[in-house]
Amino acid sequence: MSHPQSGIIPDHAKSGIFIEADFQASALDNIKKACAASLDELSKLQQQFPEADVALTIGFGDKAWRLFNHPEEGTDLKPFRPLGNGLAPATQHDLLIHIQSMRHDVSFALALNLLALFGDDIQVLNETHGFRWIEERGIEGFVDGTENPTGENIQKVGVIANDKVDAGGTYILIQKYLHDLKKWNKVNLQQQEACVGRSKQDNIEFDKAVRLPDSHLGRVNLKENGKTLEIVRRSLPFGTASGEHGLLFCAYCHCLHNIETQLLSMFGETDGKTDLLLTHLSKAISGAYYFAPSIERLKAL
Ligand code: HEM
Repeated sequence: MSHPQSGIIPDHAKSGIFIEADFQASALDNIKKACAASLDELSKLQQQFPEADVALTIGFGDKAWRLFNHPEEGTDLKPFRPLGNGLAPATQHDLLIHIQSMRHDVSFALALNLLALFGDDIQVLNETHGFRWIEERGIEGFVDGTENPTGENIQKVGVIANDKVDAGGTYILIQKYLHDLKKWNKVNLQQQEACVGRSKQDNIEFDKAVRLPDSHLGRVNLKENGKTLEIVRRSLPFGTASGEHGLLFCAYCHCLHNIETQLLSMFGETDGKTDLLLTHLSKAISGAYYFAPSIERLKAL
């Protein structure tokens, strides 16, 4: 039986660190060792600070994953491509380190320890520290994560099933969104709610009959053959009050298809309609897909 890496599990973490890096093929043996050793560092901190619920996922971009030569595993994986005439840029990297916990100090300790393990074999290109904001709202003011799968459904939706050769693996999208709050705050409450497809204060979902087709929910609440396309979101707000801020979007899924179909729909690549959140609130400044193998595979890359 294969087990998923722990980073997908916690659903109300207070802190998240997202690190994206590149590495050379010549460093492959060191990368393998650092991945296995990362799990030991994680266990140490889990034992030292049990209340922090610290969790970790290590994932690989398409080019990097192919180097490990497990061609039957992670077969959905491909590089992220730009979408919507550049509205969603592609910034694919080789390695993702995703840390979640209830304590930012513990997340930070794990990040430091892992970067020491990987050392000069990786070049870090992005590091974003996310925080859980008031009432689990995004900094645009809407509650985020309400319709996320919970309990057993987290693994059902997020993790490749046990009858598959890459059981315990998962696909991940990392996309950084910068919010323009000055612009958003000029949009009145009713229009903001129409953009999202939910009410702001009490977080009630609008009936499908009144929801705008280009509202966020209109774009991402999709059905195929009568079944909703589900994903597990582990996004967090990030940034500074005076400078750049927004949402570090992070989604896990047992297949890339569900994530990609929602993205194509948001960025005008299905019916030409673009998500109203992109018009009035936010712009994507990064985009990358990763495959995170099971714990067992990570230990034996
Ligand atoms: C729902 C915000 C990007 C997929 C929501 C909700 C909010 C929100 C406020 C409603 C509450 C909830 O169920 O969580 C945002 C913002 C984004 C963003 C501010 C970026 C600017 C994305 C992206 C995807 C996505 C890139 C997928 C690729 C979803 C899904 C739901 C959702 C699947 C639940 C829909 C449902 O079944 O009701 N988002 N989101 N979101 N979002 Fe996003």
